Amino acid sequence: MKAEPYRMCASAVTLLVLLCLFPSEGLAGTFPDAHDPPTAGWTGPVFKLSQDYPSTAPTTGPKPWKSFSFKTQPKQYINSVLTYCLAGNVEHDFELEKNTVRKWYHAPWMHSTVNGREFVHGLTRERGSRPRELHPNQTSSFQNWAVGMYNARGGYTIGRVWRDPNSPDATAAHFSDGTVAFKLLFTDATVAEVPYLHDGFEWQAHVTSTSSTTRSIRTVRLLQVDVAVRDTRATGTGWVFGTFVYDGDTPGATPLDRLVPVGLMWGNDPSVTAATAGPSVRLSQTWINPDVGPPQHLGRAGRLNGPVDNPKSSCMSCHMTAEYKAVSDMIPPTNATTAATMRWFRNIGATTPFDTGQQALGYSLQLSAGIQRFVAAHPTAIVKAAASARRPARRIATVRRGEP
Ligand code: HEC
Repeated sequence: MKAEPYRMCASAVTLLVLLCLFPSEGLAGTFPDAHDPPTAGWTGPVFKLSQDYPSTAPTTGPKPWKSFSFKTQPKQYINSVLTYCLAGNVEHDFELEKNTVRKWYHAPWMHSTVNGREFVHGLTRERGSRPRELHPNQTSSFQNWAVGMYNARGGYTIGRVWRDPNSPDATAAHFSDGTVAFKLLFTDATVAEVPYLHDGFEWQAHVTSTSSTTRSIRTVRLLQVDVAVRDTRATGTGWVFGTFVYDGDTPGATPLDRLVPVGLMWGNDPSVTAATAGPSVRLSQTWINPDVGPPQHLGRAGRLNGPVDNPKSSCMSCHMTAEYKAVSDMIPPTNATTAATMRWFRNIGATTPFDTGQQALGYSLQLSAGIQRFVAAHPTAIVKAAASARRPARRIATVRRGEP
């Protein structure tokens, strides 16, 4: 981000000329790739932010998950989404520009802050895993680092929000049916403490460790894969969220064949409190895979959550807080009454803000985190949003994944 708002006249003309010359592509290289440049002597892969967002709405591509009902065929549904996400990416080690099956895009502005994208694979720092959260044998705290991607429909919306790199447009965050996002979550947990990670999918990444805030090249192992699908059949929320865990004890030729679905959710079960959940009151908008091997901690009252996630939350509970300004925390406050807590377990539509008067960001926490980080770096920049959302926020929520 070199251009500043007041230099926008010249930049706008350049932008216009470039858009005329390359109508189907955005401005490659507008947004920084990573927090740090590669260290001297590094010969491994170098992360490139996939940012040539489509400038026209992509035509409808295949939506294999539409052949299945997420309510009655959740396993087929989530597996079809995973196959779609991995196609063309596995053979190129998730270097998105090499995918010949379909295009995928990264969200901008995840490079800044101490948790920002590292230069090898674009990983950002996530909530850490406390002792015993991943396995009863786990005695140490471990770090988790992740990278998220959007398909062309999602990339189109991200490109619209960030069309003016100096003034993001939060009002453009309308993801259309068929948008898919997925996220690979890696951990620096050892196989000795988390045995099901054996024979897994490993990357080298430029990350910190639990004992040091200085980044260095370290080995991380794939632990969790998250998927999110904009599916209008999910009438309450407009989205379906699902997650997989790596299980080295599951049969499968390659590590990515050993990902096991943990579950799927398409709503927050707004009437189920922690007190009412139990054998007689079952969740009807979360499906948990009864055959998952590694021990799971789920979200509030058994709602879906992934191995690295905050147990007081759920995928959709946290994601529906994506808004500008982010005036509410991503997780319910500690010691909140049940009624207050249940505000985080409503079913709100894909374009409805979590807080009245703010601008909804379509369940996208990368848009939310990116805009917040951009504003922190450019305090005088203007974010286009609902009038009331432009007033100063009481408090900007943290962008980390529910760290207390
Ligand atoms: C307590 C908060 C929290 C919970 C719970 C949570 N996430 Fe997220 N998620 C985030 C944040 C913050 C980001 C954006 C930053 C990043 O990618 O690290 C994100 C990013 C994502 C993305 C990339 C697209 C996007 O929205 O930016 C996907 C897909 C995703 N999460 C899926 C899931 C799934 C599936 C679950 C449940 C298994 C889940 N998340 C649970 C906080 C959460």
